[in-house]
Amino acid sequence: MKENIIPHNYLISVEDRRKFNKHNSFLLWFTGLSGSGKSTIANVVEQKLFQQGINAYTLDGDNIRKGLNKDLSFSPKDRTENIRRIAETANLMIDAGLVTLAAFVSPYKKDRENIKSIVKDVNFVEIYVNTSVEECERRDVKGLYKKARAGEIKNMTGISAPYEEPENPNIEINTENESVEAAAERIVEYITPKLKLKNE
Ligand code: ADX
Repeated sequence: MKENIIPHNYLISVEDRRKFNKHNSFLLWFTGLSGSGKSTIANVVEQKLFQQGINAYTLDGDNIRKGLNKDLSFSPKDRTENIRRIAETANLMIDAGLVTLAAFVSPYKKDRENIKSIVKDVNFVEIYVNTSVEECERRDVKGLYKKARAGEIKNMTGISAPYEEPENPNIEINTENESVEAAAERIVEYITPKLKLKNE
């Protein structure tokens, strides 16, 4: 089957789209425990970019798992497939010229490595939202930790399933010491040079 698929030569390139948008496109990947604050921070970053006229869009676990990936569970195999599909989606969005933000637990190092190979190294910014499991459990915004402790949820990351910490993230945020606003501001500062097109 695969050998009968011949790539189409598109008339408009990613460079054309970036030039049209007047900014670069790439992926900001937020990883961390459930309830660590990934989506909250990603949303504020997106808002700041929007206010600067930058085309950006956020994907997160709670929206993607209700639609595109609603057939997937939280088993290791399904999490790998979840992340693969999101990485492929993000790759299309980068190609479409968007600054793409993605907030997923993504607990396995090999899955995060795979994202990098799908979107390419230069387009990948890894942001580790480092909130301890104790703090996530204390906040328990969605009540999932309580359910996991009661044995109602199996494979809960941080409780009954592993989280492999990033060793060398581009940005690390410790939400216990930094406000959402300050973290979002730091991320925007980090990516500002990356947003600029080369020959500007
Ligand atoms: S991932 O591990 O495959 O990357 P993803 O980010 O898509 O996870 O989804 C995580 C969200 O699903 C959490 O924020 C939480 O709301 C919910 N969830 C439900 N069950 C689990 C579980 N067993 N482990 C982690 N998150 C869960």
